[in-house]
Amino acid sequence: MELKNLFSPAKIGNVQIKNRIIRSATSERLANKDGTINDKYIKNYTDLAEGGIGLIISGFINVELGYSVMPNSPALYNDSFISGQKKLVDAVHDYSDVKFAAQLAHTGRQSTHPKFEAVGPSSIPDKSVNRVPRELTDDEIKEIIKKFVNAGRRAYEIGYDMVQIHAAHGYLLSNFISPYSNKRTGEYGGDSKGRTKILVDIYKQLRDEIGKNFPITIKLQTEDGVSEGMTLEEGKKIAKIVIDTGYDAIEVSGGMGESLIGTKNALPSKQNIGPEEENYFLQNIKEIRPYMKDCAAILMGGVKNPITVEKFLQDKIIDFISMCRPLIRESDLPNRWKNGDISPAHCISCNSCYMSGLTGPIYCTVKEKLEKKRLRKEQRLKNNK
Ligand SMILES: Cc1cc2nc3c(=O)[nH]c(=O)nc-3n(C[C@H](O)[C@H](O)[C@H](O)COP(=O)(O)O)c2cc1C
Repeated sequence: MELKNLFSPAKIGNVQIKNRIIRSATSERLANKDGTINDKYIKNYTDLAEGGIGLIISGFINVELGYSVMPNSPALYNDSFISGQKKLVDAVHDYSDVKFAAQLAHTGRQSTHPKFEAVGPSSIPDKSVNRVPRELTDDEIKEIIKKFVNAGRRAYEIGYDMVQIHAAHGYLLSNFISPYSNKRTGEYGGDSKGRTKILVDIYKQLRDEIGKNFPITIKLQTEDGVSEGMTLEEGKKIAKIVIDTGYDAIEVSGGMGESLIGTKNALPSKQNIGPEEENYFLQNIKEIRPYMKDCAAILMGGVKNPITVEKFLQDKIIDFISMCRPLIRESDLPNRWKNGDISPAHCISCNSCYMSGLTGPIYCTVKEKLEKKRLRKEQRLKNNK
């Protein structure tokens, strides 16, 4: 079967992407301790570029000191990070047809840094990190908006092709949009409009800084997955505001530390499930899609089967797919599919990669075990000769 749609070009804003395959943001724990970039970090990205991907979204880049997602994560909270980041972006752009987005983020309520307090729109305890965030003042919120804008301006100056604002997974910006974690009554709280104002302000202020030709995209919480959390009905209202604001693409997401529905194990071969369950944010994107006039729709979560997503693209349910875990297992997956091996991604969504990141750089432990087994077998055969 020919994957005509998957390997056709399409645009996000005015940026042309060579195919419909995106690397979803992945924190790798490969940067230096202080958030600067090193050769190992760059190699991970050039490997992805070599593997045939159309657009790479970086891992979580923190916009404020102390609010990174894990140790050895990249940062952009001041100008000192620009030169190292430029080396990285130039190395990826040596593959002239690969585009690169910077994901800008703040851990907010799920902050775990021992020296920095967790902060959020309201002081609602977070069970996943066992902390009670301090409620931010309106002035502090305005300062954080500026930090996102400054980091976005830096990404633009560095030469990234676009930014992605991280407003999902229980981190700061998703804390604001969710009625579960935002009980404020003032400017940045209350109804859907008030809770989404932080995303509107970031977009407008960044747009003013960088002009109209640089896409500003978003990874958007559309559902929390906890009781009393944000429902898809509320997520749709938020998405509509985000689209009307002008965001150029939405990667539809959900879940948080307390619910973990963002990185599900949804494996058809073991659980006998269909495409709706395998691609576990499909229903969310289907419901938001009708509002998305010039805004690209990115399907994320459990994507593994090229034949299934080719059909979604053909039916115009989505514009792009994005994958995280499958590309940890196979950085050359897009080329494999392009060259005719269209069997699903080898990834089994077991989250062992995520667990490896608790102690060091992330990797696919399943792949490593299989590789060791293969080498042992090879050795046995050699010994028996
Ligand atoms: C090891 C690991 C690191 C991740 N890092 C990030 C990150 O930095 N930013 C982000 O938005 N999502 C992050 N995610 C979530 C993924 O981008 C993605 O939303 C999720 O894994 C579901 O997609 P998948 O089924 O293709 O893996 C991470 C997931 C894993 C497993």
